[in-house]
Amino acid sequence: MLRRVNRVVLIGTGFVGSSYAFALLNQGITEELVLIDLNKEKAEGDAMDLNHGMPFAPSRTKIWYGDYKDCGVADLVVITAGANQKPGETRLDLVEKNTKIFKGIVDEIMDSGFNGIFLVATNPVDILTYAVWKFSGLPRGRVIGSGTILDTARFRYLLGEYFDVDTRNVHAYIIGEHGDTELPVWSHADIAGTTISEWTKNKADVNKDDLNKIFLNVRDAAYHIIERKGATYYGIAMGLVRLTKAILRNENSVLTVSTYLDGEYGHDDIYIGVPAVVNRNGVREIVELDLSDEEKAQFTNSVQVLKKTMEPVFK
Ligand code: LAC
Repeated sequence: MLRRVNRVVLIGTGFVGSSYAFALLNQGITEELVLIDLNKEKAEGDAMDLNHGMPFAPSRTKIWYGDYKDCGVADLVVITAGANQKPGETRLDLVEKNTKIFKGIVDEIMDSGFNGIFLVATNPVDILTYAVWKFSGLPRGRVIGSGTILDTARFRYLLGEYFDVDTRNVHAYIIGEHGDTELPVWSHADIAGTTISEWTKNKADVNKDDLNKIFLNVRDAAYHIIERKGATYYGIAMGLVRLTKAILRNENSVLTVSTYLDGEYGHDDIYIGVPAVVNRNGVREIVELDLSDEEKAQFTNSVQVLKKTMEPVFK
């Protein structure tokens, strides 16, 4: 019996979705990619445009404009569809309209017999990931949100720039809501195995204000980008490709995804960004960092803000 090929179905070929499809093709991570969007012409045009680049790609990805029936044998369904933030809007402002859109999408997908993994990117991603879990009835580990994967990448990039160190040698996490209440886990941030305070010990020009400014730039990055170009899409698309690779290649990678807490970090019945081991079966386990008292309080605030926003939607 031939090994069935990997199939990814992408729901939503807007800025984020089409950037994800482009990055996925260029990294040669899946054998099949199905594009679905309300705007049929756009999705068909994207499929044609991407297919014409195939000779330049590292391997062949069969790409087509499809429909929800194609989800039946899919390994992974990635959802980027929905309204996105406009200048001055927070991610939480989108909850009402996007939850409604998601109910219809998830029902169609589940009607196909889909039994794979959901990867959600649409904002507010933590609440919409919870909605996909509720609407789909799939085991919670098989419904994953992009969470703070991009925030953590921004954090590592800016710390690497500040300390003039390859970002791959910077280990630092942003956890909590993918949004205004996210928090940096300074207590576990390290550069090449040395804590940030050890690294800064004899560097007189490093100060706490600079480090706090770095976190604020991470937290508010989307607002700054949206003010300039109207939306963000390359960073999140690359984060979604990283997650797709961890899942399809069964990598057991630790990534700060939006996953379900069932007592971890002292909270339950919520999807929120924490470090978790991600593989072919979704989230294998949550990595529980020993947070400082201040970090615990910030994390609890993040949980409470999300729960308060969710209340009217899931009452
Ligand atoms: C951002 C979007 C993905 O943070 O929420 O850029």
